[in-house]
Amino acid sequence: MWTYINPVRLISAEDYVQEIERINKDSFPAKTLIFCYKWFTSDASIGKLRSFLPDCRIYDDIEENPSLSSLQKAVLVNVEYQPDHIIAIGGGSVIDTAKVVRIALYRNSRNVLDLFPPAKKVRNKPYFTAVPTTHGTGSEVTMWATVWDNENRKKYSLSDPENYPDTAIYDVALLQSLPLSVAIISTLDALSHAFEALWNKNDNPVSDSYAYKAIELIFYNLAGLHENTDIGIREKLLLASMYAGLAFSNTRTAAAHSISYPLSMLYNIPHGIACSITLYPLLRINQVRIPGKIAQVLQLTKMKSIAAFWEKINHMVSDKMPFQLQEYGIREADLNRLAELSFTRERMDNNIVELDKDDVLRILKAVY
Ligand SMILES: [Fe+2]
Repeated sequence: MWTYINPVRLISAEDYVQEIERINKDSFPAKTLIFCYKWFTSDASIGKLRSFLPDCRIYDDIEENPSLSSLQKAVLVNVEYQPDHIIAIGGGSVIDTAKVVRIALYRNSRNVLDLFPPAKKVRNKPYFTAVPTTHGTGSEVTMWATVWDNENRKKYSLSDPENYPDTAIYDVALLQSLPLSVAIISTLDALSHAFEALWNKNDNPVSDSYAYKAIELIFYNLAGLHENTDIGIREKLLLASMYAGLAFSNTRTAAAHSISYPLSMLYNIPHGIACSITLYPLLRINQVRIPGKIAQVLQLTKMKSIAAFWEKINHMVSDKMPFQLQEYGIREADLNRLAELSFTRERMDNNIVELDKDDVLRILKAVY
């Protein structure tokens, strides 16, 4: 038996500003709080938003992989404003920062650390619109935000069923100038979300169907990414990211993400690389428990074996970016310690095959 829930309204738009104008007309918000990167504040669309939003504030002090301290600052700066509508325009770090501020607002709390234990909302929730500007995070369709505790070298997930965005707007024009490296890293993150949903203890037929769709779209469009990528390719990869997000929104991630956190925390390996670099050894380990799903992936991608499948992916990536651990400054002697740090609760335990430290060490050696 299974349940699949995802309450986010999905909109594909030619102009995200027009959709926000529509939402605005329906709900008459008095105050709007926009989260975006600093560089995006000069985008023409921000001027258009300001023209019809009566009382609008912009928060642009966004940290990449937001730390506890940057999120705490975001909460304290914005908690008095009490917006009716929160709009997050950006990648996962922007959307996750907005999520943390929103949860602090509806729980009436000023301390980020107080938000981790589950609690009821005590105030009305601001309406929440998420507009992704990358094709990887899936944060626009999930209920959690990733929080990095740099001091203690840990990564947390702040999760609350109340904290799904109300609406996600997909506007491919926002992705037109995405740098090639960001585009590849984002796509690999989405690919990892899709596989992690398939080899997950919380899987269900709905999440599986979204995961297949994401893998198929990525397989046929990843090679099309280059400096001046065709908008049609970006559109397909944005869809893939959405499908992967819908898949793992109900399963959460598993071993590949669990192993990725120390790689990102200690060696600054970009998230999408860190969480996809181990996919092939994990495919080899997990396939014995999900043979039907692997057959489906091979059929969709017209590949004869997972080795052939991965060779194609690896070729498409390593042509453009480093895709082995030693290329990111990791020494072989560090792998043992990395294997010890790879066990994040509620991530590693979701993996369909139980893994121990020696298994993870073998996985890391395989991609060294
Ligand atoms: Fe991810």
